[in-house]
Amino acid sequence: MPNAILTEPDTSHTTMSNNIEYQWHFVAENEEALGFGKYDIVQAEVAGKTICIARFKEKLYAFQSLCPHAGAKMVMGYIDAQGNAVCPLHRFKFALKNGFNVTGEGYNMRTYPIEIRPEGVIVGFKG
Ligand code: FES
Repeated sequence: MPNAILTEPDTSHTTMSNNIEYQWHFVAENEEALGFGKYDIVQAEVAGKTICIARFKEKLYAFQSLCPHAGAKMVMGYIDAQGNAVCPLHRFKFALKNGFNVTGEGYNMRTYPIEIRPEGVIVGFKG
């Protein structure tokens, strides 16, 4: 299982989007440094929080590391052809773009904005 072990330089800052305040945190210098290898999901420690980062059709997505149903490690799952994170335990599916539980069980996944900027890959947590 890939695990990005990353350190966090002091590059955090705050912005507002749709009236939501985000605190942005450095994750890695670039996408390569996330260490995807042949996998499409990695786990990373960011500002004391463990998250998953997935790669799908050349875009990055960030979301909670534990499944909202019963807490399985999402990094052990996979990304399907429609762009859903598939839980390894009961196979519930969650849209990468917004965390919606597309298989209809009613457990939505928390997602985080993630961007690649000149200073590196950054993730936003609600302030
Ligand atoms: S723990 Fe993920 S679907 Fe049940």
